[in-house]
Amino acid sequence: MSDLTVIVLAAGGGTRMKSKTPKVLHRIGGRSMIGHVLAAVGALEPARVVTVIGHQRELVGPHVSELRPEAVLAVQDEQLGTGHAVRVALDALADAPREGTVLVAYGDTPLLEGATLRAFTEAHRAAGAAVSILSGIVPEPFGYGRIVRDGDGVVQAIVEEKDASDAERAITEINSGILAFDAAFLLDAVGRIGNDNAKGEYYLTDAVGLAREAGLVVTAHPVDDALQTEGANDRAQLADLGRELNRRIVTRWMREGVSVMDPATTWIDADVVLAPDVTILPGTQLLGATVVAEDAVVGPDTTLEDCEIGAGARVVRTHGQLAVIGAGASVGPFAYLRPGTQLGADGKIGTFVETKNAAIGEGAKVPHLSYVGDAEIGEGTNIGAGTIFANYDGVAKHRTTVGRQARTGSNNTFVAPVTIGDGASTGGGTVVRRNVPPGALAVSTSPQRNLEGWVVSRRAGTAQAAAAEAALAPAAGEQSENGRELGGDPAERAES
Ligand code: UD1
Ligand code: CA
Repeated sequence: MSDLTVIVLAAGGGTRMKSKTPKVLHRIGGRSMIGHVLAAVGALEPARVVTVIGHQRELVGPHVSELRPEAVLAVQDEQLGTGHAVRVALDALADAPREGTVLVAYGDTPLLEGATLRAFTEAHRAAGAAVSILSGIVPEPFGYGRIVRDGDGVVQAIVEEKDASDAERAITEINSGILAFDAAFLLDAVGRIGNDNAKGEYYLTDAVGLAREAGLVVTAHPVDDALQTEGANDRAQLADLGRELNRRIVTRWMREGVSVMDPATTWIDADVVLAPDVTILPGTQLLGATVVAEDAVVGPDTTLEDCEIGAGARVVRTHGQLAVIGAGASVGPFAYLRPGTQLGADGKIGTFVETKNAAIGEGAKVPHLSYVGDAEIGEGTNIGAGTIFANYDGVAKHRTTVGRQARTGSNNTFVAPVTIGDGASTGGGTVVRRNVPPGALAVSTSPQRNLEGWVVSRRAGTAQAAAAEAALAPAAGEQSENGRELGGDPAERAES
């Protein structure tokens, strides 16, 4: 919509949030409230977006600029009313629009959708209206501006709660706050709006009366889905809208072919992308820019933020952030994937495994109880249970490289920087401090020594010593009997 200017009002304080974070920066569905509004606005491809900022503009301004670098920021130092805010917005434009449409929206309506704004703007244009109101029919109109129509149903005015008569207060059609204006009319009207009212504010809604006095067309279009224009003023309302937003997102993905076993415990952020035939099990949160490919199964009890999950992968009881999991790979249960984790196709990050900045090759496996940090593991390699990639020497982080098709023993420590070659092996309990050449077996543990009788002499009188004594010096009769039953000479049995 090339002749469309959108003004987003976000200068208000939001005191009921009781927060050091500005109201419009509170988040649901992985975006700030104003982020949702700007996304809906962006879907219209307007020529210009102006955001009016005031309270905590040092936080709101940069956030808006990050989301929409081309948006104009208009600073309203004092919040003198919505009419004043729009005047500030128009003043901030080098060339205020004299033609086309100006759409006004608020920064705190996170369920707003682009399609709704588009249909409303098109209806406004089709009616040839000077002002159009996106209205709503609500059971509890208290606090809203009421839409006053005459006997023929023609809109005459918007009357604010504090200025309304008893009869007007009974009206259930309210101003959602989203208004569309003919640009030329708005430019003229906004300078003529006064503040002679109960709140002493410049009401943008007074533009309706001005249009009617001039004999111009005003229309009101009741929105079907009133929640789209609902604002969140406190954290309870924010949570309600967050739950509803999530319900909508989850429903949309189910309609797109995603199986969700328990929608009530599944949370999917607005920017997540899922393929058909993904299955999501209960207690799963898919956050940020997470992408899940087809046939992958995620959950139960899994949180993935900004992760990429390959086709057919299985991710069970896992917490992941900025991790890429290959097709057919298997993760968890109880895995912690930290940023920079990359698992190749058909690979495995198993139970009680933590990974960070680690590229694990195709078909490679880290099945049990391990920490893999700052590492590269080649294709087809198996890392033994309980292996620690010791990446930190107390001062700096170092990398470990394990080649392809290596087999490392249980309970190893790889002291980085160190390289283990292709096809190498390490023995159980090895502490690898020096590079292991390809194909070599590395062992660092000294040969085992058995100090016979140590427990009986050094731990005399303990239950342990008693058990040792019983095993070593059984009653003569019993021993021969046992010996016979088990088939002869105890020495022979020990060898077998
Ligand atoms: C406004 C409307 C009312 C409508 C209601 C819907 C007016 C006069 N009234 O009332 O008809 O039913 O919204 O929620 O427009 N803002 C600024 N600068 C200001 C004043 C407000 O940026 O000087 C922003 C606020 O941050 C907020 C929005 O505009 O996002 C609405 O302002 P608010 O004061 O809450 O208006 P209401 O009294 O609720
Ligand atoms: Ca309000």
